[in-house]
Amino acid sequence: MMQSGNKTETLQNGIIVVTGTSTGIGNATAKELASRGFYVLAGIRREIDADAVCGKNIEPVILDITNEAHIANLVRRIKEDPEKRPLRALVNNAAIEINAPLEVLHLSEWRRQFEVNVFGQVAMIQALLPELFESRGTIVNISSIGGKAAMAGYGPYASTKFALEGLSDALHRELEPFGVRVIVIEPGGVVSPMSAQVRIKAEKITHEMTPEHRSRYGGLMHAMVSLAESYIKDAVPAEKAGQIIADTLLTKRPRARYTIGRDAAMVRFLNWTLPDRVLDKILSRSTQAHYPK
Ligand SMILES: NC(=O)c1ccc[n+]([C@@H]2O[C@H](COP(=O)([O-])OP(=O)(O)OC[C@H]3O[C@@H](n4cnc5c(N)ncnc54)[C@H](OP(=O)(O)O)[C@@H]3O)[C@@H](O)[C@H]2O)c1
Repeated sequence: MMQSGNKTETLQNGIIVVTGTSTGIGNATAKELASRGFYVLAGIRREIDADAVCGKNIEPVILDITNEAHIANLVRRIKEDPEKRPLRALVNNAAIEINAPLEVLHLSEWRRQFEVNVFGQVAMIQALLPELFESRGTIVNISSIGGKAAMAGYGPYASTKFALEGLSDALHRELEPFGVRVIVIEPGGVVSPMSAQVRIKAEKITHEMTPEHRSRYGGLMHAMVSLAESYIKDAVPAEKAGQIIADTLLTKRPRARYTIGRDAAMVRFLNWTLPDRVLDKILSRSTQAHYPK
């Protein structure tokens, strides 16, 4: 038996797959789950990242979630586990974030983001469901508060997370009769390379804009970076996010959704309670405050 706050559950030496564990939330979650006694198959895209996620109870596996052969190798690894451990959970964490006004971002970049953040997650779920049916396991989809409310300029990333939210709802309702749980995690700002790279990515996109696009959206791109950096100051450490994710996995009767961070809880509350037009005004005002003077 293991204790997690006031929650208790027998772990029975199970396997958990976590995707995207080279850095950030995935890295912290893999380590946290391993420290709580699970055997973690930790997805990384490059051998060189194995050192970042090695340790007791962690086995790094090469896993690009858009690569069918990698996913097939992972399924084989689980089926042929020498200790015949059941697959307890899949933590669908891997994602990329590219933000720009809809008009600006090239369609190929829209597609690439959906390929990882949506179709990659679907591919992982489809591949691992047979094992999860057997263990009556859990799927944890790492969404974002951006999957609930989309600020100006966040359309590409937010729409992948809205899609993940929608497919998670349907999946939860499809799998509940079979005892497989689906939990959605909605972080706000969490300290990670993803949040740290906002400025670099935004400057590259702004630099590549046509003069017309720049005159239309240059101010917005500046405001997006300034706003994101103001949130980073209060961001939750990745380790804390990993603990919260591990806690939800150990909860006997988890809720369908959990936010991480006060910013996420606040946006979720406003999104629930306010009419769209009022929310528009609030979000627009908070972006406007960050436009260059
Ligand atoms: N940080 C935040 O403020 C925040 C807020 C809300 C939601 N989230 C969500 O939390 C999750 C983790 O984000 P993070 O902040 O920890 O970002 P991160 O540090 O950038 O980690 C993203 C991970 O995904 C991996 N990845 C990217 N493309 C992949 C692919 N095709 N196949 C497999 N792995 C891939 C990356 O691997 P490489 O190193 O190989 O690129 C990396 O390990 C994401 O779903 C993100 O949307 C984060």
